Amino acid sequence: MPHDFMPGLAGIPAAKSSISDVDGQRGVLEYRGIRVEELCLRSSYLETAYLLLFGHLPTQPQFARWHEDILHHRRIKFKIIDLLKCLPEQGHPMDALQAAVAALGMFYPGRNVQDIENNYWSAVRLVAKLPTIVAAWARLRHGDEYISPRDDLGFSENFLYMLTETVPLPLWGDIFDDCLILHAEHTMNASTFTGMVTASTLADPYTVVASSIGALKGPLHGGANEEVVEMLKKIGKPGKARPYLEEQVRAKQRLMGFGHRVYKVKDPRATILQGLCERLFKECGTSPLYEVALEVERVAEELLKGKGIYPNVDFYSGIVYDKMRIETDLFTPLFAMARVSGWVAHWLEQLRENKLFRPDQIYSGEHGQPYVPIEQR
Ligand SMILES: CC(C)(COP(=O)(O)OP(=O)(O)OC[C@H]1O[C@@H](n2cnc3c(N)ncnc32)[C@H](O)[C@@H]1OP(=O)(O)O)[C@@H](O)C(=O)NCCC(=O)NCCS
Repeated sequence: MPHDFMPGLAGIPAAKSSISDVDGQRGVLEYRGIRVEELCLRSSYLETAYLLLFGHLPTQPQFARWHEDILHHRRIKFKIIDLLKCLPEQGHPMDALQAAVAALGMFYPGRNVQDIENNYWSAVRLVAKLPTIVAAWARLRHGDEYISPRDDLGFSENFLYMLTETVPLPLWGDIFDDCLILHAEHTMNASTFTGMVTASTLADPYTVVASSIGALKGPLHGGANEEVVEMLKKIGKPGKARPYLEEQVRAKQRLMGFGHRVYKVKDPRATILQGLCERLFKECGTSPLYEVALEVERVAEELLKGKGIYPNVDFYSGIVYDKMRIETDLFTPLFAMARVSGWVAHWLEQLRENKLFRPDQIYSGEHGQPYVPIEQR
């Protein structure tokens, strides 16, 4: 049956899912029916991850077990640390993360993805170990020692501790946790779809997540958060935002951190992240990048009026991380270590009614061509 070709599969449903939903006209994002604003206010990343993975908020005993299981699986094997040590230190952290996650699958080989018990432990390991890998790489590449997780610290506090060897201010832990909640899941985006295609072949979950990490790296997806901070640094001062943006628009260049396939209003995550910036600055002083960002948003609204292009999740997240003195090229790995819960939730959902992804194409080449010997070409 012939179909209309939709570049980028825009608007084509690729799955039925009950994990999250976006209303792009009203700017609403829900995980399992609960708005992200509510989750940021009342939940934690670890509880939100449980909600995404298992479909409901945990009871106290369920959460206690989940928390305990995560605590026990945060450490990484010394061979993974050795693997990271062997990678070129100037390489991108997303590549190091992808390599390490693919290698995890070699240590935990349970290939039977119909084994529910094994799938639970895969989910635990992936949620627990990604932050440890990101923090380990961030230190090892500078010649610093790997820092083991600390069991007395919360999920986000522990990550910041493993990164800096300093227990962060409680406010930093809270704000970082909200950032992880906001990045945990987002319907049928490119990296989730990539993971689902891999999952549909019944590949193991480490391979699924490694393929999603690859898709997240690109600047049209998760990589945009790095580019936003680079752009804001390049602009330098609020007064320089207008000439910079006018030139970008004239040259038909895309503004990083703006625009979205689904949202036609400001991304609700951008609004929450902007609030987080302000909470952070109240305690730690403002950031010059934030002043530039506000002006960029104002001018962009004027210049791109009518196109439905507003700040997305990547516009303000980097400003929070930059204020926490996290290196710019780690921003996308932070996205990945949050999004892993969404990827794994989609993997589990996909397995329940799996069908191999095998889309069609519209062939636009020739038929019946002769083979011309090389010397006659
Ligand atoms: C995310 C993104 C790929 C979605 O794009 P899309 O749904 O495929 O939209 P299209 O590429 O069809 O663009 C539609 C129109 O909006 C314009 N547009 C989209 N995003 C834009 C941006 N960030 N800056 C300037 N113009 C933009 C396009 O140039 C196009 O204009 P035209 O109709 O005059 O040619 C796109 O907005 C983008 O590249 N954003 C920057 C990267 C980014 O921040 N990514 C993170 C996403 S969370």
